[in-house]
Amino acid sequence: MRRSRYFLPTLKENPAEAQIVSHRLMLRAGMVRQSSAGIYSWLPMGFKVLKKIEQIVREEQDAIGAQEMLMPTIQPADLWRESGRYDAYGPEMLRITDRHDRDMLYGPTNEEQITEIFRDSVKSYRDLPKNLYHIQWKFRDEVRPRFGVMRGREFLMKDAYSFDLDFEAAKQTYNKQFIAYLKTYARMGLKAIPMKAASGPIGGDMSHEFLILADTGESEIACHRDFLDNKWLENIAANSDLQTVVNAFTEKYAATDDERDEGAEKALGKDLVVARGIEVGHIFYFGTKYSEAMNAIVTGPDGNDVSVEMGSYGIGVSRLVGGIIEASHDDDGIIWPEAVAPFKVGLINLKTGDDACDTAAEDFYQKLQAANVEVLMDDREGRAGAKFADMDLIGLPWQVIIGPKGVDKGIVELKNRATGEREDVSPEDALSRLAG
Ligand SMILES: Nc1ncnc2c1ncn2[C@@H]1O[C@H](COP(=O)(O)OP(=O)(O)O)[C@@H](O)[C@H]1O
Ligand SMILES: [Mg+2]
Repeated sequence: MRRSRYFLPTLKENPAEAQIVSHRLMLRAGMVRQSSAGIYSWLPMGFKVLKKIEQIVREEQDAIGAQEMLMPTIQPADLWRESGRYDAYGPEMLRITDRHDRDMLYGPTNEEQITEIFRDSVKSYRDLPKNLYHIQWKFRDEVRPRFGVMRGREFLMKDAYSFDLDFEAAKQTYNKQFIAYLKTYARMGLKAIPMKAASGPIGGDMSHEFLILADTGESEIACHRDFLDNKWLENIAANSDLQTVVNAFTEKYAATDDERDEGAEKALGKDLVVARGIEVGHIFYFGTKYSEAMNAIVTGPDGNDVSVEMGSYGIGVSRLVGGIIEASHDDDGIIWPEAVAPFKVGLINLKTGDDACDTAAEDFYQKLQAANVEVLMDDREGRAGAKFADMDLIGLPWQVIIGPKGVDKGIVELKNRATGEREDVSPEDALSRLAG
């Protein structure tokens, strides 16, 4: 992509309305624009990142056998009357009336919708288990939308729903999601800590929130120091047995605000870490809550009716864009982990208009593209300093700088955005490293 053509409206100044760094940087880097409170348009570069995050989430869901589908954003109120949640949900639900005076709503979540789809088609235990997900916009009329995409009113969520015959099978499904979540966040360069969450109406300990640590996180959390230890994390991740891995994570103390336990924290002593966290995912086993209310019944192996055991598994896809920036930035701007970077390489032509520089930059640009490396080339006229600042702001993992001095000597400068390291290398060398 050529910077001169790209719709990337970067800002030099910090926007006054942004209170936290990710919101500031997303506005400054031209990723999003607010439409109304808590509702955003995603501009091309922000949208690219959103899609990359979505794709990682998708691949890890597919890997555990969950199947992607797409449910609507607008749902009929009658479905929610069946579960009893139409009245229970409160003012966070956006209620809509259509032209025939029918009550509709913009979905804040999809348990009712998926349960209806399931019960209409699945009648026998032989068709279980089923694990279905979609990645769809949600609307929750939050009292205080804030921090940009971190707490929006309209936001993108991956929500998966599982259907199993009995508790043992449901637990197995829960464990698979638990591990898929750990892998998903790790691929984005994040260390997400699973924390025991408030258990639902049926009790038990099968609900976990996944939080990443950041000073601007909305909730205070406490956990065992081992969760910050990469070695410990790698050691347990290497174990292939589902239950063993889940146990290793869940045995250690980790709790959000309302779940904290004074006694347990005292006992930890120096191993206790208290920090702030951002909730990037939430998994939940809720048994037969919806299947009983909505008649999602299958015939069991003995011929008797069974209400299916269900769970739901959410990931805040749009919140993750902000979350990753909270976890990875410096004073100059964003530092994208390679897996979610909008482009891998930012190519700077220091002297646009100079024949030798233009030829060298164009040649390098073509070669990167031929090697399938995503590249944004700053081919605009303008001061070198402004181009450097802009490139640091948008945070692409690698910069290749082509200027008159280097062109004379047959070299380019290769800069690593995260470490700031710069090296003079031949264009061939730079190419083979970036294409690798
Ligand atoms: N208002 C919001 N804006 C952005 N992301 C959200 C919002 N509400 C929830 N999410 C994301 O969706 C995930 C699943 O939502 P859920 O646990 O149902 O929401 P909550 O914890 O707010 O009740 C959360 O872990 C979070 O990452
Ligand atoms: Mg939650």
